[in-house]
Amino acid sequence: MLQGKRIVLGVCGGIAVYKVADLTSKLQQAGALVDVILTAHAAEFVRPLTFSTVSHRPVYTDLWEPTGQAAARHIELGAAADLLVVAPATANTIARLAHGLADDMLTAVALSTMAPLLLAPAMEHHMYQHPATQANLRLLAERGATIIPPETGHLASGEIGAGRLPETPVLLTHIRRLLGRDGDLAGRRVVVTAGGTQEPIDPVRYIGNRSSGLMGFALAEEARDRGADVTLIVGATNTPPPDGMRVLHTPTALAMRDAVREAVAQADALVMAAAVADYRVSEPATQKIKKGSAAENADGSLTLHLVRNPDILAELAEERALDGLVRVGFAAETTDLERNATKKLKSKRLNLLVANDVSKAGSGFGTITNEVTLYHADGRIEPLALLPKTEVAAAIWDRIVPLLKHKT
Ligand code: PMT
Repeated sequence: MLQGKRIVLGVCGGIAVYKVADLTSKLQQAGALVDVILTAHAAEFVRPLTFSTVSHRPVYTDLWEPTGQAAARHIELGAAADLLVVAPATANTIARLAHGLADDMLTAVALSTMAPLLLAPAMEHHMYQHPATQANLRLLAERGATIIPPETGHLASGEIGAGRLPETPVLLTHIRRLLGRDGDLAGRRVVVTAGGTQEPIDPVRYIGNRSSGLMGFALAEEARDRGADVTLIVGATNTPPPDGMRVLHTPTALAMRDAVREAVAQADALVMAAAVADYRVSEPATQKIKKGSAAENADGSLTLHLVRNPDILAELAEERALDGLVRVGFAAETTDLERNATKKLKSKRLNLLVANDVSKAGSGFGTITNEVTLYHADGRIEPLALLPKTEVAAAIWDRIVPLLKHKT
């Protein structure tokens, strides 16, 4: 979603400048066209060459350079911008933006552009907390600017306080959200499940599966970046979930069922990418099972009695009140992909079923790519190439959006 977006990145003179070189590089890699403007003081910290190298574009530093081109360029940059980001935003630049000064390239672009403004203040904590800075930030927020609060931690002054520029992933999340706020999922509430469930055997052991959560996370991030209000319901995974959404942790199938049922009551779409255990131990031991204990059979073997877990999607299929909910399921198969996929599509009354042959290399559990076939409720079958999970997620939402159009 950053592909082709015009981002003007205003960089002010603070020690956090070095972090913004990384942000510029990540935005460029994601396909954004990043026009960097350095204030005079930012250029004291890092040379323009650093930013032109990572952005692959000219860097602007001076509104008053002798050719006069930059003076005209500020109108052009402002008009073309999809978003103006100021990071790090110093107390001085925040004050100048709040009061409409336009005495350098950055503030001139800020006055001329109609693009949304995203500010990431970073400074010494007393400066940040000063009533003047706070009043200026309030003024900017009242005018529609989005402020990313600084993080608390070690500051360049040696003190600890609120004033650190957040790391690149946090800044990227804010940028993506702001750019996506008018996206094709704006105003929609969606629920995505991710990861595997862990069904306890005793307090230290469980029955689990190999799901990393990556497929579900990619779906949740894509929906967030298209403007959706996302609830992500996560089973067990070692990967931290994405920012910018409501995250509910549900280690077991039963907990996931309760969370899904509650979340879908308000939702427009549900995408179940989680690998939910079909069985659980009927009565998990309350103490760790020891070798030679009474739990063992006479021959030293151990018997676990498994009972069926509820099928979350199948249960929802029975609820007529949820008929308006767009429902998307996955099928993880190792054999008879087509037969099993069409059976699940029908029996769970899904709008779309995403089938992956998890025995294929680069596909299914724990990989960053996936090769899926889409089974539509109208009988269409659409195989996709082996793609990064992020692109599979985008393709799935592309198919869901037209289904949502039928809903008010
Ligand atoms: O997490 P990753 O490492 O990125 O891997 C991605 C994935 C392989 C887990 C994902 O692409 C995937 O296939 N997820 C579904 C796995 C699965 O449980 O498939 P299934 O065929 O057993 O279930 C069919 C559908 O019913 C699924 O949408 C599942 O979430 C749902 N289900 C299953 C069991 C159950 N008790 N309740 C359910 O709702």
